[in-house]
Amino acid sequence: MKSITFTIARFDPESEKEPHFEEYSVEVHEGARVLHALHAVHAQDPSLAYRWCCGSGQCGSCAVRVDGEPALACLTEARDGMVVAPLDLPVVKDLEVDLAPYLGRLPSIVPGGCAGFPTKEEINAIKPLRECIECMSCVSVCPALKVTDFAGPTAMRQELRLALDPRDAGDRIPEAVEKGLFCCTSCQKCWKVCPKEIKIPGKAIEKLREIANRQGLTLPRHAEVAELVRQTGRSVTRTKETLLEQVPQVIEPYGEVRATVGFFVGCMYNGRLPETALDMLEVMRRNGIRVVIPHEQVCCGSPLIRTGQTTFLDHLKRRNIEAFRTRDIDTVMTMCAGCGSTLKHDYKTPFRVMDATEVLTEYGIADPAKLHLTATYHDPCHLLRGQDVRDQPRELLKKVVERFVETPNQCCGSGGGVRAGMPEEAAALGKMRGEAFEKSGADIVVSCCPFCEFHISENTKLPVKDLMTLLREGYEEKDRKEQKKA
Ligand code: FES
Repeated sequence: MKSITFTIARFDPESEKEPHFEEYSVEVHEGARVLHALHAVHAQDPSLAYRWCCGSGQCGSCAVRVDGEPALACLTEARDGMVVAPLDLPVVKDLEVDLAPYLGRLPSIVPGGCAGFPTKEEINAIKPLRECIECMSCVSVCPALKVTDFAGPTAMRQELRLALDPRDAGDRIPEAVEKGLFCCTSCQKCWKVCPKEIKIPGKAIEKLREIANRQGLTLPRHAEVAELVRQTGRSVTRTKETLLEQVPQVIEPYGEVRATVGFFVGCMYNGRLPETALDMLEVMRRNGIRVVIPHEQVCCGSPLIRTGQTTFLDHLKRRNIEAFRTRDIDTVMTMCAGCGSTLKHDYKTPFRVMDATEVLTEYGIADPAKLHLTATYHDPCHLLRGQDVRDQPRELLKKVVERFVETPNQCCGSGGGVRAGMPEEAAALGKMRGEAFEKSGADIVVSCCPFCEFHISENTKLPVKDLMTLLREGYEEKDRKEQKKA
């Protein structure tokens, strides 16, 4: 047995205005789970309200937050010092939340589809979608649910599960659209907290959007973007001389060559923000990285995949892979979070793909001057959860600013086609993000994704810059200081 001390959020909405935290010390056996610790507390204080049933990760009723993240109490190891709180949903009492509104929006089978049983292929397609235990962890973290009446990630999973089942007679795709199919920002948080690891954005929402596309239900703004890619190979209209028009196909570093990487430019950096990409290229030159930039590369296809418009995706993939393969590139670098995530997960590449921050931290960088700034960092969803890149941008940012402050992580609302297709939702999420940054005490917001930066800058009074721009400014400041000394 061992003794652990931990904290539980207590709240009775009938008699209290807000939750408070209470500390408990209990004896539990080695390897005890959070649920064992809650049972031990309950033995001391029977007024503690919490749910459980199977004790084995099958029923979903014990979901709570442990140290801020959703987890099943019956499967999560109890730790000394942990904080246990309810899911971020309306609280009934203590750790019990009101699941009824979300369970009520899960669709049920409408009998009367084809008379036969599902084929083996249909059963296999449905299988991963049936594993949900309705714990509602996904619902509790979904940003879209905070600002819209989206039915939620698991409702979308269930819509696809039924759409694929020949026994179901429901009109699933229009129903999914009606319930907010296009509200999902593809932030990936739902599947990262799912105890069954059901990849709802890629395996359910994007699939439903593909069927919606075949049924003519794609949002008009998304269809316009697809048409632009089809006509020009790019998903944004150019507003100035593009990056690819400005740069040679090989950029040599100033000194010794420490590495050679290909650069996948991405539509935003090519057509809208070439100066930010030039900042990154200058940072690479100063750090011994030779950069190869094939001029025939095109859009990665991310805006099409996220919105279910995949008919000419293979053409884009072939062209991009060939552009780097024919130059014998073994590492392709991206600086747009969405492009990087797409190349890593939606392509089968003969080369490895790395974000620019991964390249710089792997090879190490010369120290820039520290700028007199207090910076906070916005994690782009497609970099943090799409590529598991969290520490590298922070490590680089701390080298170039005097002070760094964290702002709790949250999607800015610009991804998954939401900024184009659901502008009111995007604006509402952007406003929440802007307010959080303004409370952080930072005087600048830094990120690594052109879509996030564009969107956040419209929703905060603080300046918003790409990390690569800040690093370049740090090097220029260092030059100035050295010139002064000389
Ligand atoms: Fe059933 Fe935890 S008690 S999943």
